[in-house]
Amino acid sequence: MQITYLGHACLSISIHDKVLLVDPFISGNPSAKHINCDELHVDYILITHAHQDHILDVEAIAKRTGAKIISNYEIAMHYIAKNFDAHPVNHGGTCIFDDISIKYVNAVHTSSFPDGSYGGQPGGFVISYKNKSIYIAGDTAVTFDMKLIPMQTKLDLAVLPIGDNFTMGVEDAIIASEFVECNKVLGCHYNTFPPIVIDEKEAVKKFKLADKELILLEIGKSISI
Ligand code: NI
Ligand code: MN
Repeated sequence: MQITYLGHACLSISIHDKVLLVDPFISGNPSAKHINCDELHVDYILITHAHQDHILDVEAIAKRTGAKIISNYEIAMHYIAKNFDAHPVNHGGTCIFDDISIKYVNAVHTSSFPDGSYGGQPGGFVISYKNKSIYIAGDTAVTFDMKLIPMQTKLDLAVLPIGDNFTMGVEDAIIASEFVECNKVLGCHYNTFPPIVIDEKEAVKKFKLADKELILLEIGKSISI
């Protein structure tokens, strides 16, 4: 799996010849100006919840690519009503497309569309292919439910929000990393807006002190697991 950070909570994940795009918020992110939404190759769009900073570019990308949207029931129905191809899941449920397993797991957050309408319950995803698995927490607080994940899945990477204010911050993300039993963490949901600006060096240091690795990628850069 190759994971490319596209800014904020947006990731592009390449698995064999398929590309999963998570929470596209690119055209509205000044730090991601060098990423061109119109050039992204996308097969599936995964949405953790309906907030604007996670769905802004969904329609434009889905329209251009025909990508299938995968999200909770309410978000999937919202897009199906607009004639997009969408597949609904709900908490604890797994769907499999192109041999890629995608499980929708609990998150503690809220989920409304930009117009205030109901966006279902927020979640995260555990994505597995062959012997590799990645956990995308979505916007969430640290929660005991995270302990359920390693009971079933050995994670190779946990993507955790670290920006605080709207989600967990660095200290809680360290606890979350403990709960999901994955010491390799890719940080997201930081520095995009003033309330979530963090000291990156300090964050990396705190993870190191806890014997964990915090990876902070430049926007557009990738890692492989
Ligand atoms: Ni949110
Ligand atoms: Mn958010």
